[in-house]
Amino acid sequence: MLPAAGGGTRMGLARPKQYLPLRGRSLIEWSLAPFLESEWIDGVVVVLARNDAEFSRLPIARHPKIVTTIGGAARAESVLAGLEAVAQRTSAFGEVYALVHDAARPCVAWNDIEKLCDEAADEHGGLLALPVSDTLKKARKGKVAGTVDREFVWRAQTPQLFRVDLLVQALRECDERGLAVTDEAGAMERAGYKPRLVRGSESNIKVTYPEDLRLAEFWLAQQESSP
Ligand code: C5P
Repeated sequence: MLPAAGGGTRMGLARPKQYLPLRGRSLIEWSLAPFLESEWIDGVVVVLARNDAEFSRLPIARHPKIVTTIGGAARAESVLAGLEAVAQRTSAFGEVYALVHDAARPCVAWNDIEKLCDEAADEHGGLLALPVSDTLKKARKGKVAGTVDREFVWRAQTPQLFRVDLLVQALRECDERGLAVTDEAGAMERAGYKPRLVRGSESNIKVTYPEDLRLAEFWLAQQESSP
């Protein structure tokens, strides 16, 4: 499932970042590609902003695996809307897992997705992540307020893999308690689960600022030359 209902305001552009051109396609088409190509992913829910006018114009919008739904003001709301669409389509099955992937991560490698599915398909689920190599500082008013022990710090990426029923419950609980969550693992942690950290790749960047697009181009070119 791809939450793609964000405004991308940090890009400073009127157009949502997932529709920016990147090596002959839009960014979101790159982010969707590995999931559409995989034989064992049955369907892909793309969560769009209510006023989205661009997705339906992309050739990929008619792909038979894709279903779209409308998201909300916060990422967690969009993910919940997407999971409800997944649950509707899969209600006849037993345990169903969903991979939640940012529309803004166009360089995710299929090998990493496979590793995540191999290592984290249980009730705790898991996520791609990378250990931090820089020393981390806590900041207060522009000054150092402490040093964080980096041995215990990883950077969360996507996709994140969870059982649909458990993730829906965890996100609803956070919503009821007014807790803000910025990723799915955050909701699962609060519900008492211990999502597995599966080591991902540096190339799986999230396009947030305009300069990230050049980096994404670089990584896609690298992947093309060494498939
Ligand atoms: O804003 P951020 O870069 O963290 O967004 C990560 C992903 O979540 C993006 O793909 C964005 O479109 C999506 N999102 C969403 N609904 C929101 C906010 C973000 O689907 N309300």
